[in-house]
Amino acid sequence: MFFERPNTGERAVLVHLDMYDDAEREDPTEFQELVTSAGATPVALVTGSRDTPNPKFFAGSGKVEEIRAAVLAHEAEVVLFNHALSPAQERNLERELQCRVLDRTGLILDIFAQRARTHEGKLQVELAQLEHMSTRLVRGWTHLERQKGGIGLRGPGETQLETDRRLLRERIKYIHKRLEKVRKQRDQGRRARRRADVPSVSLVGYTNAGKSTLFNAIANAQVYAANQLFATLDPTLRRILLPDVGPVVLADTVGFIRHLPHKLVESFRATLQETVEATLLLHVVDAASTEREQNLEAVNLVLTEIGATEVPTLMIYNKVDLLTQVEPHIDRDENGKPKAVWVSAQQRLGLDLLQQAIAELLSEDLLHDTLALKPQEGGLRAQLYAQGAVLQESWDEEGNTLLEVRLSTADFLQMLRRNQIPAERFGLRQQTETCEPWRASLEFCE
Ligand code: GTP
Repeated sequence: MFFERPNTGERAVLVHLDMYDDAEREDPTEFQELVTSAGATPVALVTGSRDTPNPKFFAGSGKVEEIRAAVLAHEAEVVLFNHALSPAQERNLERELQCRVLDRTGLILDIFAQRARTHEGKLQVELAQLEHMSTRLVRGWTHLERQKGGIGLRGPGETQLETDRRLLRERIKYIHKRLEKVRKQRDQGRRARRRADVPSVSLVGYTNAGKSTLFNAIANAQVYAANQLFATLDPTLRRILLPDVGPVVLADTVGFIRHLPHKLVESFRATLQETVEATLLLHVVDAASTEREQNLEAVNLVLTEIGATEVPTLMIYNKVDLLTQVEPHIDRDENGKPKAVWVSAQQRLGLDLLQQAIAELLSEDLLHDTLALKPQEGGLRAQLYAQGAVLQESWDEEGNTLLEVRLSTADFLQMLRRNQIPAERFGLRQQTETCEPWRASLEFCE
């Protein structure tokens, strides 16, 4: 990656303005955490409120003066805004403050860049950064030629800006190509898992909810868990064995965040594909956070955006050790089906309940039965074989094929639909489009 990293410990003036428009509201505490996660040292916080952003500086001119005074007084090297700035606003502010200015998107991208661990994660972050940069190219930007040696790279008659743009386009194209390759490999892995009919459980949740800690606790794996936001950027997969279910793939995913730049969601779509295709989602929530409800909603919004609203979800309220009078327990819906589990990943409390709830939900989804297929249902038989679902085959006196199968009920129902065989024929019911009550209550369904 060829982006300039802010130096560790860089002195930063933070700017947080309360916006009257609630949709634009950001959390100042989270902002401080983001800044520390990026490795900068906050030296001053400038706050205020505005109805609408000022088109030139985002903040009003009086506020800009205040920021400038803070920069001088604290000898700050960078000014960080807890808001998305337009390229022009960023440029105007830099000119006015004589100091580097980074907006919320730039800050998040920067943290993503530091946390990316796998090859794919790194490529995705670089792509998002390049795309963010490309709108800001107008300011004499020289990172590219420094990286590639500059002189000799320029085409005849090209201005510096044109050269930068061309190199940027080439780099974006190159990364797209590399990503394509990595994604193909990932898809193959996923398909192989599906063929083997291994259920997959994906952890999702707001950043810092405790996903990695929980993942470690369940999978007993050593995934990097730190009190920093976005400690996890790439999904990490582990194969675990659950009683009554068998092997299950557990995936840890990137932490979600409010106002995640749309482009970023786009570029992480492939990583989040694990989430969309999961058999079960574990939505981890920091139960002790004052922003619990807002964070929960922010995650639901991203899940909607990536098309994961149909995946069954179990809520995990983590950090019960920080709550008074709450013991680990399972919340069930009116049918007795688990809808939430209260645990402490760090203190390893309630993990047995969690395992039990997962097993209950997964085994419910699993069809393990012997089916009697009529001779004219050969198409269905072939598809069950293709899916790798057949464990044993025999025949009865009437010429029926007896197949012992093991596959997800949802997959089997889909197969029946494709073959226009009524589900009732096997004692099942086709799923209706209506939402289950516990999902509706989470605003998963419109
Ligand atoms: P991202 O990678 O940013 O998405 O974070 P994450 O959701 O994976 O969170 P992580 O597991 O890194 O935990 C965040 C912080 O919360 C760490 O400091 C953990 O030690 C802490 N933590 C996790 N689980 C618990 C818990 O049950 N109780 C308490 N008190 N702290 C916890």
